[in-house]
Amino acid sequence: MSFNPLKEKGIPIEKQVRNWHQIVGKPYNKTEVDCYTRTRQILMNGIEVEAWGFKHQLNRFVSDNNDKTLIAQISRIEDSQQATSNWMGPADQSVLETTLGYEQVAVDLTAWMAQNEPDEYVKETFDFGLLEDFDHLYRYSQFAYMTEGIKPCEIVQGQTDVIVGRPTQHHHNCNGLRLRKPYDKKTAHPQTKVNILTLLSGEQQTHNYYAEHGFMYGDHVLRETYAEIKDVEEEHVTMYESLIDPSESMWEKFLIHEFTEVCNYYTCMEDESDERIKKTWELFLDIELGHLKAAADLFKKYEKRDAEEVIGTEIVIPCRFMSQKDYVQKVLENEVDKRLAKEGKYTTIDKLPEDWPSYKVQEKQNEISSPSENAIRLVSIYHNRDIVEADKQLKEKETAILAKGLQKKGVADNTVMPDELEKMIKKSEKEKPKQEELI
Ligand SMILES: [Fe+2]
Ligand SMILES: [Fe+2]
Ligand SMILES: [Fe+2]
Ligand SMILES: [Fe+2]
Repeated sequence: MSFNPLKEKGIPIEKQVRNWHQIVGKPYNKTEVDCYTRTRQILMNGIEVEAWGFKHQLNRFVSDNNDKTLIAQISRIEDSQQATSNWMGPADQSVLETTLGYEQVAVDLTAWMAQNEPDEYVKETFDFGLLEDFDHLYRYSQFAYMTEGIKPCEIVQGQTDVIVGRPTQHHHNCNGLRLRKPYDKKTAHPQTKVNILTLLSGEQQTHNYYAEHGFMYGDHVLRETYAEIKDVEEEHVTMYESLIDPSESMWEKFLIHEFTEVCNYYTCMEDESDERIKKTWELFLDIELGHLKAAADLFKKYEKRDAEEVIGTEIVIPCRFMSQKDYVQKVLENEVDKRLAKEGKYTTIDKLPEDWPSYKVQEKQNEISSPSENAIRLVSIYHNRDIVEADKQLKEKETAILAKGLQKKGVADNTVMPDELEKMIKKSEKEKPKQEELI
């Protein structure tokens, strides 16, 4: 059965105000929650932050007082929705635990989208970003173990592999290279528009979360790692937003924002296993249908065009959260050596020119050391080797994946090289019986 959001009424804007008790609901239990309930909660917070921020930008360009008031009413509702979804997270979920949740969102969301993206070039960009967030999950997992004694499976619940990806030290690029080629707004499928805005919102909020929380740990190497990965998320925002046609008007963008919210809540509502949280997603879908109607009316008023021309007549599904291990492993083995080239192109390590612009950036940023490499050095003192969660056949390929993903140039002095990682793994195997005696 098809669902055309433009034919639905939803809740009128004036009836969308909720009381404090409704806005601040009961948090989930961090040890009982399904990992994909947590990923939905984290993603929807990011979508609401973007929805709220965009409306304030939009309103700075609007002079009609009635329209300005309406947009202000909507941004206030977005803000209240943001509080509800973000504050579903419990007070006893640590920053590192939440961080593992953020990177699980990025990996499983990007992988799902890459397989459901109609535009081949956009798909390639998703695959590229995927391997970077995949490595972030691995780096943060080392600190979660060292700092708080957490194993990644306690958060990702065995649904997402934790192993080396494209090494984080190589994610720092010249800004010009991060820019990708935009879609054409006249021919792009609504799925492409929704996919990009969804992922962009998630990446932006990941950046914001690290920026606001990385300082909360005393460990200096961990603080530096948050700064390092935050900088990569900043690049991810640049990369994904550059895929959007820059000639879209603010009213067109307003429409796509509300449509993206509708599509995401629709999917959350369909997929949610927690009955209590599902009710919130249902309510928020109805609220967003009200926003979409307002956005479509304003689009018509200012651009004399129908909303269908931009968003079509059917809901699209941005992401069904589920395990993506097989897909991610395939991309990992084939594309870990991929790098950014000029004019929105891609290349591989062996074809990089001597004057590749990102070398300079990496050499400067990592000139003393790369914090995400120190993560592996430190954990080998605690644990003999790195913290890895994957099945045996993938684990056996770890050193080879690292060897393929490391550049020859622009490599930090403190890098754990493949032969050193191999020694760690062997040492860990040798000492396993002794460790087991202790348990
Ligand atoms: Fe919203
Ligand atoms: Fe990330
Ligand atoms: Fe990211
Ligand atoms: Fe909205």
